[in-house]
Amino acid sequence: MFSWFNKWNKENPTDVERPAILVGVVGVAVIAAAALVVLGQPYATESLQTGPRGTGMYVPKFKADLGRPDPGIEGFLASTSAPVAPQGGEQTAGSARENVPPGLEGLTVDNYDRLLAAMREWTGIPDLFDDPDSYQTAVGHVMIGMVQNINENWDGHVNANKQVGVTCYTCHRGEPVPSDIWFKQTPVVMAAEGWSAVQNRVSPLSSFTSLPSDALEAYLLNYEVIGVHDLESRVAGIPGRDGYPGIQHAERTYAFMNYIANSLGVNCTFCHNTRAFYDGAQVTLQWSTETLGIQMVQELNETYLVPLAGLYPPERLGPKLGDAPKAACRTCHKGYQQPLQGTNVIADWPELATTSGEPDYSGN
Ligand code: HEC
Ligand code: HEC
Ligand code: HEC
Repeated sequence: MFSWFNKWNKENPTDVERPAILVGVVGVAVIAAAALVVLGQPYATESLQTGPRGTGMYVPKFKADLGRPDPGIEGFLASTSAPVAPQGGEQTAGSARENVPPGLEGLTVDNYDRLLAAMREWTGIPDLFDDPDSYQTAVGHVMIGMVQNINENWDGHVNANKQVGVTCYTCHRGEPVPSDIWFKQTPVVMAAEGWSAVQNRVSPLSSFTSLPSDALEAYLLNYEVIGVHDLESRVAGIPGRDGYPGIQHAERTYAFMNYIANSLGVNCTFCHNTRAFYDGAQVTLQWSTETLGIQMVQELNETYLVPLAGLYPPERLGPKLGDAPKAACRTCHKGYQQPLQGTNVIADWPELATTSGEPDYSGN
C-alpha cells in the first residue's frame, strides 16, 4: 500500500539523526535553564570570610543548607521554661522533695520541679532520679556537676561569642545515650608494643579516611602533642623517635583536624591560613576558641566521664576494651559551628550555670 512512499524515501535519503540530536540537546538546555530561573540554583553557596582577602580564608556553605535550621532547636525550645524568681521564704527542694540530687537542695520547689522535668525530657529518662539505687541516678549526679562546671569555668568556650551555654540537651537531645560518643581503639594487639596500626578503618573517628582512628584518645585522653611542623628541612633526630614527630604523627594530626572540621561543619580555613598551619600568628579567633575546647574536653573526660566506667552496665562500655563512653567536639557540636546554631540554652537555667548551689536569678 505504501510502496510509493518507500520508493520515494529511498530516492530522497535524509539524515534525521543529526537534527534530532541537535533538537534534543538544545531542548534539554532550554528546559534546564528555565528550571534554574524558575526554581533557583540548587547548589548556590554563601561564603563566610574568615581571613584577609587573597588568602583563600573563607567557609562556603550551600544556601539550601543554611536555610534549614538544626531540628534540635525546636526540640530544645519545646522543653525550656522561664525560671520562677524566688521572693524569699519559699520551701526548698531539700525539705519538700525526695531523692534531690546533691547541690540542688537549696532550689525553691518551683524551680526544682521545673529543672527535674526538663532533665527528664532532655535525657529521655522519664523516671530519672526516682530510684536512688539506679546507676542512671549516680551517673546523673555526676552529669549535673559536669554541666555546672562547663558553664561556670569554660565560659571562654561555651559563651565565646555570646551567651549560649550548655544543658543536658546539648549532648543528649532527648536520648539516654548521646550521639557521637567515642571509645578507645588501642592497643589493637594487647601483647605488642609500638605503633598500633589503627589505619584503614572505615570509622567516623578517622572521618572515613585511611588516616589513624586513634586521634581522639591520643590528644583528648593522653595529652599527646598535636603540632608536628618543623621549619627545618631536615631535623637532626630520627623522625618518630626521641620526641621528633614521624609521618604517623602527622597523619594523626590530620585525622584529628578532619574530625574537628567535620564536627563543626567547617573547613580548615575557618581557623588556619592554610599556607602556614603551624603559625599561631596567622590563625583566626576560632583557633583560640578551639584550643580552649581541647582543654575543656580533656577535663570532661578525665574528671567526669572516664571515672564513671565502674557505674555503667557492661552494654554501655566500649565494645573492645570495656572503657567508659567519652565526649568530644561532635558530642556537643553535632556538625554545627555552634551547638544548636548558637541558640542561648542557658538563659532559662541559672541552676545549671553555677557550681555554688545558689543560682543567680537576677537576669530572669
Ligand atoms: C558533654 C556532653 C554531656 C552533657 C552536657 C550531659 N551528658 Fe549525660 N552523658 C554523656 C555521656 C558521654 C554519657 C555516657 C553515655 C552512655 O550512658 O552510654 C552520658 C550518660 C548519661 C546518663 C546515663 C544514661 C544511661 O542510660 O546510660 C544519664 C542519666 C545522664 N547522662 C544524665 C545527664 C544529665 C541529667 C545532664 C544534664 C545535667 C547530662 N547528662 C549532660 C554526656 C553528656
Ligand atoms: C576549629 C579550628 C580549627 C580547624 C577547623 C582546623 N584546625 Fe588545625 N589546628 C587548630 C588548633 C587550635 C591547632 C593547634 C593545636 C595544638 O597544638 O594544641 C591546630 C593544629 C594544626 C596542625 C599542626 C600544626 C603544627 O604546628 O604542626 C595542622 C597540620 C593542622 N592544624 C591542620 C589542619 C587541617 C588540615 C584542617 C582541616 C582539615 C584543620 N587544621 C582544621 C585549629 C583548627
Ligand atoms: C560541652 C559542649 C561542647 C564541647 C564538648 C565542645 N564545644 Fe565548641 N562550643 C560549644 C558552645 C556552646 C559554643 C558556642 C559559643 C558561642 O558561640 O558563644 C562553642 C563554640 C565553638 C567554637 C567557636 C565557633 C564560632 O562561631 O566562633 C569553636 C571553634 C569550637 N566551639 C570548637 C570546638 C572544638 C574543636 C571542640 C573539641 C575539641 C569543641 N568545640 C567541643 C560547646 C562545646
